[in-house]
Amino acid sequence: MKTTALYILLIAFVACTHKTDLTFSKDIAPIVFENCTPCHRSGGAAPFSLTNFKQVNRKRNTILDVTQSGYMPPWPADRNYTHFIGERYLSENQKDLLKEWITGGAPEGNPIDLPPLPDFPKYSNIGVPDTTVWFDSIYISGDSRDKFFIATLPINLPTDKYVKAMEFLPNKNNLVHHMNGRLINYDYDSKQSITNGNRILNLEVPEEEYVEQFKALKLANDDGSRPNHINSAVNYLPGVQANLYPDGIGGFQMNRKSILMADDIHFGPIPQGKWDHSRVNIFFTDSAPKRPINEVMLGTNGESKIIPPLVIPPNKKTKHTSYLLIPQDISILTINPHMHLLGTSFKSYAIQPNGDTIRLVNIPRWDFRWQYFYTFPKMVKIPAGSTIYVDATFDNTERNPNNPNNPPIEVRERLDYGGAGMRTTDEMLQFIISWLPYEDGDENISLKGN
Ligand code: HEC
Repeated sequence: MKTTALYILLIAFVACTHKTDLTFSKDIAPIVFENCTPCHRSGGAAPFSLTNFKQVNRKRNTILDVTQSGYMPPWPADRNYTHFIGERYLSENQKDLLKEWITGGAPEGNPIDLPPLPDFPKYSNIGVPDTTVWFDSIYISGDSRDKFFIATLPINLPTDKYVKAMEFLPNKNNLVHHMNGRLINYDYDSKQSITNGNRILNLEVPEEEYVEQFKALKLANDDGSRPNHINSAVNYLPGVQANLYPDGIGGFQMNRKSILMADDIHFGPIPQGKWDHSRVNIFFTDSAPKRPINEVMLGTNGESKIIPPLVIPPNKKTKHTSYLLIPQDISILTINPHMHLLGTSFKSYAIQPNGDTIRLVNIPRWDFRWQYFYTFPKMVKIPAGSTIYVDATFDNTERNPNNPNNPPIEVRERLDYGGAGMRTTDEMLQFIISWLPYEDGDENISLKGN
């Protein structure tokens, strides 16, 4: 027994002091620069930089944890299920190299071997915008909690215009963790002023105040009716480029009077208060959209109900499903699974009339921080008569570290006020699909953009 214990100790000792021939400059920097610095750089979306040896070395133990567990780079969708544009991941070989380098003492090596840092554009990732509009500054208090707001940005144009793409960019403090923007288009005569409403609503306000505050945004037409909305006009997640579909696909009209509504905008936790001042680049086009994109939503506020209804009792884990029959041939471009803090897994697929399955997305470990809009490399055809299914699980126990309530209380979706009563601490199960009516050859069109 004794000799075995000694032997194990010896192995452990050898393992700890094992030196590696790998160096940061030669072997590790290429991996980190390509996979981490898109966010971890000065002015990038992550809270600290990983652009040189010192910075990486200082964080090496957490880096070991988060890369081996797959938390970083962030990509919650199961890559063995389906593939999307812009996937972020390390290969097994890259993970092994990082592990060997860190456990081997993390030597720097010769700086002459360093590859150049990638070049990151400052003001736009997709081109030169025709115009840039700014949200009001938002103060994010430093209590180390996530913050969620609705923010509005009135836009006046000399004439109605067509938009090819919109791009959201946070300011250099980079506090924004996600932003979903819809465009509210007003008919010219239906609203006198688009600038007299409040520009911000804190989504954590008590429910009674919420309704009043929502009204104070003054988003309705003057007669109280609901103006036209273009959902998903612009979305943002750290490190994700704005969507620019190939010519002829997508785009929308922006009326002379419109309000861009960030619904919602999520700021990550910070220890010290800071201001955010985010902007939106707009790229116009002369031509009307040839194939404008449609959106359909399953689940909360959508076209299919949730079964059983989304009511999650305290101390319970629940499973829900939702499904929708697709009556015509469609081509899917982008999908967005959406849940809040109690969500734990999300899966969607279509069953064709012949019984075959078309996989859409699988997120085995839901993370509300990484709500990607997943774009397929090529459009996915869903034949008429197929049914799209969503299966999701929720965890309302104390063991869910994201549970906002301790002890847990009943949490449900809220459909009052057309869903406007939705706060982060309420729950949602939603699946947004952007699609086109199918045309021959769609499944061969690459969506990788221009
Ligand atoms: C898409 C942007 C993005 C990419 C790419 C990315 N990160 Fe991160 N990373 C973040 C953000 C944002 C955070 C802050 C925590 C959070 O929001 O989850 C973070 C947090 C971290 C943390 C701290 C985790 C903790 O628990 O404190 C480490 C370590 C880290 N990243 C390492 C890496 C490494 C190593 C890579 C490359 C292999 C990488 N990240 C790639 C955005 C990114």
